[in-house]
Amino acid sequence: MWNQLQSIALRFPRLRLHKLLSLSAKTSFHLPCRDRRLSSTHASHDKKSIYILGVGSIGKLFAHSLAKSSSAPPVTLLLHRPELAVDCDKAGGCIEVVKNGSADKQCGFQTEVILQKGGDTSTHEIITNLIVVTKAQATVPALQPLKHRLTNESTILFLQNGLGVTEEVTARIFPNPSSRPQYLAGITTHGAYPTAPFSIVHAGIGTATVGAFLPPEDSGQQGIIVEDPVASIPANSRYLIQQILKAPALAATAVTPEQLLRARLEKLVINATVNPLTVIFNRHNGQLFGRPPIRVLIQRLLTEVSAVIRALINYKGNTMDSRFSEPALEKHVERVATFNSKGINSMLQDVRAGKETEIDYINGYIVARGAELGIQCPHNRKVVEMVKNGHVISESQISDFFPHIEGTEYH
Ligand SMILES: NC(=O)c1ccc[n+]([C@@H]2O[C@H](COP(=O)([O-])OP(=O)(O)OC[C@H]3O[C@@H](n4cnc5c(N)ncnc54)[C@H](OP(=O)(O)O)[C@@H]3O)[C@@H](O)[C@H]2O)c1
Repeated sequence: MWNQLQSIALRFPRLRLHKLLSLSAKTSFHLPCRDRRLSSTHASHDKKSIYILGVGSIGKLFAHSLAKSSSAPPVTLLLHRPELAVDCDKAGGCIEVVKNGSADKQCGFQTEVILQKGGDTSTHEIITNLIVVTKAQATVPALQPLKHRLTNESTILFLQNGLGVTEEVTARIFPNPSSRPQYLAGITTHGAYPTAPFSIVHAGIGTATVGAFLPPEDSGQQGIIVEDPVASIPANSRYLIQQILKAPALAATAVTPEQLLRARLEKLVINATVNPLTVIFNRHNGQLFGRPPIRVLIQRLLTEVSAVIRALINYKGNTMDSRFSEPALEKHVERVATFNSKGINSMLQDVRAGKETEIDYINGYIVARGAELGIQCPHNRKVVEMVKNGHVISESQISDFFPHIEGTEYH
């Protein structure tokens, strides 16, 4: 901590020592990042400010896109390490996004350094609009230092791959429904990767889909499907959704809770098959379906995934049910893997970069929910274990790890 403060002191000589020492006792503090908005009072823009938690590739893409829109909202970057404020200052307080070879910089972000193990909490400034774009497994630790600033008037948009994060946040951070923030969820097909601390390449031009969060097990109780997606979002949360919708670069759409749940589950299916198998076999997306034993493994995974999802959402007349039959899922997975055949998905990228993957919120989610429902998921369980242990195998070894799959079996 002391080294971090010394480094900040060197970068910001106008901050005096006693000020730095007092900062060390706080949970969060503001640092200048060549921020034109620092001069404005918090009260004037607090309710309008959009906070970004998880200033990685997608966090920067969203911050940049929001800042670029007409009548842009104030955007605050929540930095979990003081050095990031130094990096931000070096970048001129700007985020650079390179798209189709041309670079665009957006500047003027407010930054706040959030100390992960701060003493008492001297900042109680309420966060009204928060977008969470950490990796799934970092969500609870990232939200812990902020929980006193999130109230039932706050909105949190979870924009992450995988499922189960929101339920974990409820259980571990906001167990009391009366003080719990409103949850929104979203998925994105944009693709981005970093080239420098505050520069990213927007490599895959995609879309974002956002709406009110609906747990899978509540889908049956929804009854009537609301036609106007924004109307299905609680009034307090519409501002955040509207800001995202009016950022052209995000190509965002608001959908009903049912539609969003379907999209999230379909993405989960892709992430639970294509992603871990590219890791286990060290192959690109498009190199899986042409290999008969791997195709059988995909089918086995889908049998379990389909059973769990259908049990979760099952109710009489559920229109989603047929979408999650095994044949429908197999077609869906093959279509996506073929369309993005040369792509290196995020799990493979994480493994190659030596980072922890989101597997616990993908295949791990299927295994855990299956256990609650009495559905065994041995293939998904094995996949979780292999990805975590870094097992890379060839097709000829497949039956050593998945005993019921023979090298040539195919249906
Ligand atoms: N990148 C893509 O193309 C893409 C596309 C679609 C969906 N997604 C999904 O979007 C989500 C974010 O992905 P990403 O690629 O943007 O990940 P990322 O680049 O790793 O960004 C996550 C950021 O969260 C930060 N973080 C870690 N712990 C934190 C904490 N306690 N408090 C605050 N911040 C913390 C990380 O910092 P450190 O670097 O210090 O760990 C990192 O800057 C994931 O769920 C991913 O699957 C990504």
